[in-house]
Amino acid sequence: MADLLELDDICAGYGRIEALSGVSLRVPEGGIVALLGANGAGKTTTLNVVSGIVAPTRGEVRLAGRSLRGLGSDAIVAAGISQVPEGREIFRDMSVHENLVIGAHARRDKAGIARDIEVMTGYFPILAKRFRQMAGTMSGGEQQMLLIARALMARPKLLLLDEPSLGLSPLLVQQIFDIIVRLHRDEKLTLLIVEQNAAVALAVSDYAYILENGEVVAKGPSAVLAADDSLRAAYLGA
Ligand SMILES: Nc1ncnc2c1ncn2[C@@H]1O[C@H](COP(=O)(O)OP(=O)(O)OP(=O)(O)O)[C@@H](O)[C@H]1O
Ligand SMILES: [Mg+2]
Repeated sequence: MADLLELDDICAGYGRIEALSGVSLRVPEGGIVALLGANGAGKTTTLNVVSGIVAPTRGEVRLAGRSLRGLGSDAIVAAGISQVPEGREIFRDMSVHENLVIGAHARRDKAGIARDIEVMTGYFPILAKRFRQMAGTMSGGEQQMLLIARALMARPKLLLLDEPSLGLSPLLVQQIFDIIVRLHRDEKLTLLIVEQNAAVALAVSDYAYILENGEVVAKGPSAVLAADDSLRAAYLGA
């Protein structure tokens, strides 16, 4: 399958701190790729380079063969990439409905937006129940679902998920990943998922990369990495 996303030799950092030192990775169209690694490995920075929040100092990001160099965050969303940020940055004083509408701010097709709100509340029924509730009063799991639904309101080809399982109970993590798998299958969504929960991420992904200190130290089909005990012990704390 053709690669939807390509990162070639990406270096990036914050001032004099180098967070990524030559990261290359591929996400095939229609695939689910996991990006794993310990705290500080550079996972969020990698996603932020793709979404245009952090400018790389070297290397290139391509979407469907087209370089994203010089594009700002809005242009990258318009090109088809949405990010679900780490740490639940919802609009707390706005309702669930208003948060979903904001996710579609770059779109002009009113009827399509209304239809997609229906689609999203179909995938995440709890959001229908909480439709007029202030987002800040919802539980952590509900907020995570809202964040994913909000990112999808932009109708991305590629969804970047940053630690969707963070701070959630195993049951909720399973629920959220079940929905992610359905979205992938039914909406033909391509996914790049950052996780510290390696077991869950390897179970749903086709292929995975492991980052350490800003470098890819291992990569391979997820089933192969999941079966490699020494790798899991060395990098994945399991
Ligand atoms: N805004 C920032 N300013 C300075 N340094 C930063 C900033 N954000 C990240 N870093 C540094 O860059 C490196 C990579 O951080 P990054 O957030 O990408 O890691 P991560 O793999 O997402 O970690 P975590 O699992 O804790 O979310 C770390 O050394 C971190 O301290
Ligand atoms: Mg992170």
